[in-house]
Formats: sequence, C-alpha cells, structure tokens
Amino acid sequence: MSSLLIVNIKTIYGIQSEPLPLKKGAAMSVVDTLDNAYLLTEGDRISGFGPMSEVPDRADKILDATGRLVLPSWCDSHTHIVYARGREGEYVSRLRGLSYEEIARQGGGILNSAAVLRSTPEDQLYRSAADRLQEVISMGTGAIEIKSGYGLDTESEIKMLRVIRRLRDESPATVRATFLGAHAVPAQYRDDRTKYISLLTDEMIPMVAGEGLAEYCDVFCDRGFFTVEETDTILRAAARYGLKPKIHANELANSGGVQVGIANNAISVDHLEMIGEEEIMALKNSDTIPTVLPSCSFFLNIHYAPARKMIDEGLGLAIATDFNPGSSPSGNIPLLMALACNNMRLLPSEAFNAVTINGAHAMELGQTHGSITAGKIANLIITKPLPSLDYMVYSFGSSHIDKVVLRGKLVN
Ligand code: NIG
Ligand code: FE
Repeated sequence: MSSLLIVNIKTIYGIQSEPLPLKKGAAMSVVDTLDNAYLLTEGDRISGFGPMSEVPDRADKILDATGRLVLPSWCDSHTHIVYARGREGEYVSRLRGLSYEEIARQGGGILNSAAVLRSTPEDQLYRSAADRLQEVISMGTGAIEIKSGYGLDTESEIKMLRVIRRLRDESPATVRATFLGAHAVPAQYRDDRTKYISLLTDEMIPMVAGEGLAEYCDVFCDRGFFTVEETDTILRAAARYGLKPKIHANELANSGGVQVGIANNAISVDHLEMIGEEEIMALKNSDTIPTVLPSCSFFLNIHYAPARKMIDEGLGLAIATDFNPGSSPSGNIPLLMALACNNMRLLPSEAFNAVTINGAHAMELGQTHGSITAGKIANLIITKPLPSLDYMVYSFGSSHIDKVVLRGKLVN
C-alpha cells in the first residue's frame, strides 16, 4: 500500500476525531484545526495526522506544505453536470428582461436542454461531463452528487444515468447518482400530465432501480413544474424500489415542497429560497437536511434562502453548487463559499462545514468523507501559501488551490 506524507502544514482544517453527525446551529461555526502539522495517507485512506514534533520518519512520497493549508475536499451534494450544451442564449434573454419562468413556459429552460441531450450520443455526453468533473476536481471537489433530468424519456434518462455510472467508475472522485425524471413535464404530456407521472412511476423508476443506476430520486416540486400531490406519488413509487428522496423544493414559490419531502423521509430538500417560518419549524422536527444553493440565487437574481436564520434556529445546512446550464453554470466551491458568506451572512467556518461534512451527510457519505479523520477516504485539498480559511473566503475569485489528493493519490 503506498503512503503519502504531507509535512510542515501551516494549518489542517476540519479535523474530527471520529465520524460525527451533521453539524447544526452553533456547532456549524466550529472547525477544529491543528497548526504546524503532518498528515499521512496509506492506500486510499487517511491513516493519521499530528504535530510536526511527531512526524513519521518515512513514507513512499513526501510533500512539503510549508505555509499551506490542508482541508478535506469539498462534498458537492447537488449538481446536474451531465448536459449537452450551455444555455448562454437564455442568459442573455434574462439580461434583456425575460424571467427564468417565462423562458421555461416558452419551451426553453429544462425542455431546451432535453431536446439537445436526446440527440447527443452517450459518448459525447460522457466526455463533456468528464471535462466538467475534472474542472471541479481541480477546484477541490472530491465527492459529488449528479442528477439525470435532461432526458425526460426513458431511453434518454437511462442514457444520462449510464454516463453518471461511467463517471463514477472512471473518476477518482466519489459519485452519487440521482434520478430526476420529474424535472419538467415534456411538451407532449402538457395536457395529460398523469400519463407522464405513470411513465415515471411504472416504467422509468423500475428500470432505473433494476439496473442499479441511482441511489436517489428527485422531483422539481415547484410552481409550474410538479405539484405536491404529484411529488408524493412519485416519491412513494421510488421508495418501493429503494430510491430515497432528495428533492428540489421552494425555489420559485412556497408550494409545500419542504413538507412533502419531509413526509417522505427525504435525505435532503434543496433550494429553499422561498421558505418561511413554517418550513423552518418542520425541518427542525425532521432528519431531512436543508440544502441551499447560493450560486443559483446569484445567477437568477432571486432571493437567497434564509440560511442565517436557519442556522440561528439550530438547523444544520449543506451548501451545494447546483452546477447546471440554466440556473448555476458554475461548480466553483470557493466562490460559492464567498457568495454564502456575503449574501447569506454566513461565517467562513459555517460555509466550510456546509460544503464539507454537512455536504457529505447530504449524500449519506458522512462516515467516509467530509472531514480529516483517521480511517476516512484520503480526499484532501492542499492550498497555495495562505494565511487562513477566512482569508481564502475573503479574497474571493482567486484560485487558492494548489494540489488535490483523491483516494490518497495526487490528481492535479
Ligand atoms: O436546480 N430548479 C430546477 N433545476 C435546476 C435548474 C435546471 C435548469 O434550468 O436547467 C436547478 O436550479
Ligand atoms: Fe438543481
């Protein structure tokens, strides 16, 4: 088993002595650190860390990290990185005054992405998604959830999920797959929505589960997309096939998405721009993880989710990029942390926990990812020389990451 020893680390961030549950409320601002430290990996795991006074005397490879920080790699629990083409034309239309919902009603948006994806060969889709995955890895992402949802027919949804499986098999990053056939109602079902819901519940979900292509089932439960009742029907069918809910809720309206997610034991409910007091209370009485997506608010120029209030009320949040061609064409987590701090008034330490350990929990990877813990997967970021995590978030837009280690191996 090959070992990697990182020495003279200025500060290690995100230490946990053992795998711990979701960080909630005031605990979200606590990040355990160690100065002047070493970290040792063996095979694909972290085998130990400690002060330089106790550094081991050998390893297969030694890296000097003088002046640098070592962090656990990011855990991005909500993305849509498999898509055929960008939608920069719609972006310009929005700048000219159209809204995201107006574009969707005119057959743009998700339906636009679906039309292009259906005619794109699987291998070409794989190559563009693999390039995006490589890009986010170089920006520090080590575990990522990826959704289907730009196929919207059985064959194309399966094609997307096979691309995600290939990314999982061929990338050093940890990949979790989510079936999002309920992303939008295709135009030919507009007058017979029940028929599309039946296609989802009776054909797509059984096939996806039968081929073992996804862990989770998502529904875009929101105004103009899927209703609470439709969401409930889809999630119940998914549960019968062992697919757990992670859903889009309350982005465009306060439409009951949070409650239907909780009622179906969702792992997470994501977006939450339009939630109120009632949703916060419901989340407090549940194990469902609220996940907020600040780059979507930035890019669509919509409300930010009330993340400050949620933490002050004692909730534990995950933050994810939502990397997708329509509402967040970016997978840059350091920039995302700056958006969360500046626009949601989070502290850098809170943003850090939200994109590491809490993001890991939002993918059910909390036992193996998201912190510097002996025995966890050795997914690490080594920064350029840098004073602190606060500095990293403060100096937004700069590229602070020097090296990324995934499963114990340097990947860039
Ligand atoms: O999370 N809101 C629904 N789905 C994506 C956007 C999809 C798209 O516009 O292509 C999101 O924002
Ligand atoms: Fe999304």
